[in-house]
This record gives sequence, structure tokens and C-alpha cells, in this order.
Amino acid sequence: MTSPALVTAPPPQEAVGPLIRGLAVLRGLAAADGRRSVGDLVRDTGLARSTVDRVVSTLTRTGYLRLEGRDAVLAPRLMELGNAYLAASRLPEVLGPLADALADGLDESVSIAVPDGDGVRFVHQVTRRRAMSLTFRLGDLLPAERGAPGALFASGWGEAEWDGWRLRRASDPHGAGFPALPDGHGEGADSFEERVRAAREHGWSADDQLIEPGLIAVAVPVRDPAGAAVCAVSVVSHTSRHSAASLREAVLPRLRETVAAMERSLAAPAGRPAAVPAGPTPAAWTRASKQELGPEFVESLARGLTVLTAFGEGSAALSLTAVAEATGLARATARRSLITLEHLGYVASEDRLFRLTPHVLELGCAHLSRLTLSQIAGPHLVGLVERVHDSASMAVLSGADIQYVARVPTVRIMSVNITVGTRFPAYATAMGRVLLAGLPAHERAGLLAHTDRAALTPHTVTDARALNDVLDVVAADGHALVSEELEEGLRSIAVPVRDGTGRVVAAVNVSMHASRRTVEQSRADLLPPLRAAASRIEEDLRVVGRYARVAVS
Ligand code: PHB
Repeated sequence: MTSPALVTAPPPQEAVGPLIRGLAVLRGLAAADGRRSVGDLVRDTGLARSTVDRVVSTLTRTGYLRLEGRDAVLAPRLMELGNAYLAASRLPEVLGPLADALADGLDESVSIAVPDGDGVRFVHQVTRRRAMSLTFRLGDLLPAERGAPGALFASGWGEAEWDGWRLRRASDPHGAGFPALPDGHGEGADSFEERVRAAREHGWSADDQLIEPGLIAVAVPVRDPAGAAVCAVSVVSHTSRHSAASLREAVLPRLRETVAAMERSLAAPAGRPAAVPAGPTPAAWTRASKQELGPEFVESLARGLTVLTAFGEGSAALSLTAVAEATGLARATARRSLITLEHLGYVASEDRLFRLTPHVLELGCAHLSRLTLSQIAGPHLVGLVERVHDSASMAVLSGADIQYVARVPTVRIMSVNITVGTRFPAYATAMGRVLLAGLPAHERAGLLAHTDRAALTPHTVTDARALNDVLDVVAADGHALVSEELEEGLRSIAVPVRDGTGRVVAAVNVSMHASRRTVEQSRADLLPPLRAAASRIEEDLRVVGRYARVAVS
């Protein structure tokens, strides 16, 4: 939630109206957990229908939204805005591995959160949840009075911040502006000022079920060399394992050691800026889109958003000139966009240098960081089926089987009906062969040595050596085609889906009756659209998975 002061202040004269309105639509969608009808967005934002339509078509063009019937849906690519903040902050990159090691050492959940106005926003999570029903994700926002980190940040507040906090408490006493909060339990507000004093005195802060029954945590701030709290690290547990006091006793020494190591890592100089990708500048791209789409493309909105993507690893603080150079925008355009973004709280400036604030994570990050691989794949499989008029699916390896995690059927061609969850033996399926071919050699060998292979049809390859040779060919070709080895009459062609590290995490296929096309035709007609769909899924997975852990389903 934007603090009331930010919402009510009138925009400066030079502010870019379309950028303000576009961001209002994105916030409306984020608040609705990623999906809202265009009509409801009109109502939420108070904007004209024609304005919302133009914003939606512009954001569809930038890849930040998708239209599904009447609904606008946040698209994975939008995560690049939150990623720009996270990359610039260096927190996940520099502190993440230390947080992961702490979680391993303690066998408890660990999270990193940053101050965002009078709230606390999560930027890293390592989850070891057992009895807990609730897990916060990247981008989730808590009010400062709930949870352990808020009291640490508030110990640095001045009168203005306390006034802002009281104002927000008065206007939103039940935390309606914090969708990540479970409702109907403890408020933490009464004890807040006392906990802030204690946090200042002790250098740690405890959460004894301030968020929900059973959930406890202890947090320590990570300070920059100037002494400002950059973020807080929390160790999170449950009353079935610890009391708040025993948790503190058990974890505080190691938590403090980790935080000291984090402070040393953060003080080390940042790396160099990531290489600027070759190709047209963002400004050239928005110009071309304007020429193509005309009034349905609001160029000043698209330009303003490209300013956010100018920031990143090694470019945390940028001058106006640097922003103009990175985006290709005219200085005057870049300047007005920065003024607008600063007014809305997404950018902060000091000594003529601009930085992103964690508020950028408000733009859909919490929703997008929860997307599963099968949800990411869904729209691309639908697009594939529309093109090829045969069923498309995604599967992952589960032991020696494949398991379907997404499916878009056309007509039924199998004797059994395939649904999400269906399992088949990997060796006899195209998706299975793609997945087996993507394994490290020893894992493939282990699986081949320890599975029984029945001949499911007269065509099934069952011999270990022959299958191993087939898998080598699949690995070299980057696809598998299997005809009538699982069931007579059935043919499937599959390609791998790789994550950002190049690991094969899933396979996608098109399946059809063998009589629909010859084998050669199947390859010629289906491989290009299948590969295109897989690479779109990979692109989305890379953006969403850059800092968030993407579950399969
Ligand atoms: C969490 O990361 O889930 C968390 C952090 C601090 C709390 C409670 C939960 O006080």
C-alpha cells in the first residue's frame, strides 16, 4: 500500500499523466491478485473506459499484460520491473546465499525484508515450513507493527514517519491494504512502540504470534557502513518447535554471525553494470510500436516504464544523463518520467542520483512470484494448440515416470483420458525421452539400469543399449518423436524446457493420431511452433525465476 501522503499529494506539474494512469491500472491488477475484468478496472481506478482500454493495449504490447476474454491478466514479463529493483539492490544476489546457508544450518525458515514506507517487504525467502499454513513470498508487504522486522526499521523513524504510521493505522485499522496478511488475528499495534524501543536497545526484534497463531520469528538488522538498516534477516519458526524465547536463544548467535558476514559482503564494491543488450534501444522499440498501433499505444506510458528497467546490477544509482543514455529517451522525456515515478514513490533521488525503491515490487511481484511452471506454460500451450489443432501438454520427470502438469486437449485420441497428474513410463514417451536425455549421464544410467521396461506395443524400444542410443540422438537433435510405442495409433513430438541455468526442467509435446501426418510432416509442421512455444515458456520462466523459486505445479 502506498502511504497516504504519497497518494494524496497532487502530482507535480511536469508529471506524465498517462504514466500515472498506467501504473494505477497495474496496481489495480496487482491488488486483485493478477486478474480483473476491464470493467472492474474502470471502476477501481475511476478512469475512463477508453483510457483503460488504451492502457491495457499498451501494456499488452509491452508484454506486461494479457487479455483473456474480458479479463486483463498480469503477465510474467512484468516481473522485470521488480527484478530491476532486486538486481540494483544486490540483496538477493549478495545476501541470498548467506541466508540459504543459515536456513540449512538452523533447519528453520529464513527471510530477508526491506523497509517500504511504514511497511516491510520481503525480498528473499528460504522456506522450511512444517506446521505453518502461511508463507510470505517475494514482494509481499506487511505492516511494520506485524512481524519481527518492522520494529527494527521503525527504531530509525522520525516524527514524520510516526505520523504517517498513525494516519495509516487510523484509516486502515485492520490492514485491508496488506493482502498478504491473514485476517482476524492479533494486531501488534498496541505493543509496537514498546517493541521498537526494545529493538533499538537490544539490536533484535521478536515476533510472538503477531501475524498468526503459532508463527514466531526473531530478526536482526543488516546495516550499511553508514549505520542505516538496509534490510532485516528473520529466522521463522513455529510454537510447536519453540517458544519465542527459546527460538531467540537457539538462533541469535548464528543469526548475528550471518548478519556480520552480510554486512561485510554488502560493504564490498558492487560489480560492473550488466552488459547492455544489443539491439534497438527501448525508445526505438516504443517508437516503432506507436507507428504500428497508433492511438491504441500510449507511448509516454511505455517510455516511462522503460525508465524503471534502466536500473539494475551495477547501475543502482543513475544520473538523469545515464537514464537517458540507457533508454535512448530524450533527456526531457526521461526527466519527466523520473519526476512522475518519484512522485509515486517508485524512485528516490539524492544528490542528482536516482534509485529504485522497493515500492516497485508492488507492481505485481507478489502475484507473479507465486506462479507455477504449469501456470506459466498454460497460455503458451493454448496458443500452440490454436496453431496446430492437436493437443499440447507439459510434463516433468517423477522417478522413472513422466507426470503431466499441464494439458490443453483437442480431441481425445488415447484409450485413457490424459489429465493433469497422469503418469506414463518415461522410456516409452516423447516427453519422457526429452527429460531422460536432459539428465546428467550418471542419473540417466541409474534410471535405465533400475527400471523394468515392458513392450507396451510391438514398437516399444525396451533394450537398454538401444534406448541409450535413442536418448543420445534426442539430446543431439533437441527433440524426440515417438510413434506408437506407448499406444497403437498415437504419435507425440516433444522438446525440452530449460530454466535460466540451462537445466531441463520440463518437456512440452504435441500429440496426435499417427494417421494425421507422416513422420516427416510431423517434424516439419510441428517442430517450429513447438520450439517457439517452449522458448516463450523459457523466457517467462527466466524472468519469474530470476529471484523467485518457481514450483512445478
Ligand atoms: C516470514 O518470513 O515468513 C516471517 C518473517 C518475520 C516474521 C514472521 C514471518 O515476523
